[in-house]
Amino acid sequence: MSTALPVSGGPLGDLDEWDEFLAGRYKEGKTETEFRQYDAEANPGVAEFYRLNHEFQTLDYVMGKEKQYFGLTRGKKSVWEAAEYLNTLVDDSDPDTDLTQIEHLLQTSEAMRANNEPRWMILTGFVHDLGKVLCLYGEPQWGVVGDTFPVGCAYSKDVVFPEYFAANPDSRNALYQSKYGMYDPNCGLDKVHLSFGHDGYIYEVMKNYLPTEALYMLRYHSFYAWHRHGAYAHLTNEQDQTMLAWVNRFNPYDLYSKAHTKPDLKQLKSFYDDLFAEFLPPTLDW
Ligand SMILES: [Fe+2]
Ligand SMILES: [Fe+2]
Repeated sequence: MSTALPVSGGPLGDLDEWDEFLAGRYKEGKTETEFRQYDAEANPGVAEFYRLNHEFQTLDYVMGKEKQYFGLTRGKKSVWEAAEYLNTLVDDSDPDTDLTQIEHLLQTSEAMRANNEPRWMILTGFVHDLGKVLCLYGEPQWGVVGDTFPVGCAYSKDVVFPEYFAANPDSRNALYQSKYGMYDPNCGLDKVHLSFGHDGYIYEVMKNYLPTEALYMLRYHSFYAWHRHGAYAHLTNEQDQTMLAWVNRFNPYDLYSKAHTKPDLKQLKSFYDDLFAEFLPPTLDW
């Protein structure tokens, strides 16, 4: 499945290549050694993508991007407008079988709906990847997708391809490589700067409107070292520890909901119109 994002010359053929890599990496029953083999040999594009991501996501870079985007100064858009904007990313590899971005979002949310998940969660499923519009603002692939990880403290070996951190200038900063780094023990993830990407951005857009559980799903869905491997527990507070279960409840829908049938937007539209109106104002700041 690929819905290619026309990002300038990145190593991924399209952004979905990263999602597919994750689904393979976390396929049930795979051992850690099998993951590792799968990682580098079968996915040279993904390996190159992480090499860039780990080298350039420094604390300085992250703080600069937070400043650039978290003020939400890029205008107002409804959820549909944002989804349609994201949909302008055209697939150039196999247009007959590939899903559009909107279809991909609908598959996630419709899988939740089929399981009778709460309405706020279905909405969360629909919006969770809208932050990928960052690609359309000109951000590189390595600054939009990929596992996220804390910056300003020691890297965990549970972040995929940890060896690539050696090229990050922060790896030579003694403070940033200490266990807690610039943070206090159990300060809470809200105080921790994660590598920049689509999770943090969509969280900022939605943070005034959705329940805490939903905001954790948005903000941390790519933080695999934490939600899948249990790393960085020393930075989490009680709320983080409680909310982890919700992030984990979200994850299988994100990873495994890709079906072969295309959702029928026409038939589903009115359900989603009502759902958006229930929680969100007509337009949001982006
Ligand atoms: Fe995502
Ligand atoms: Fe996703």
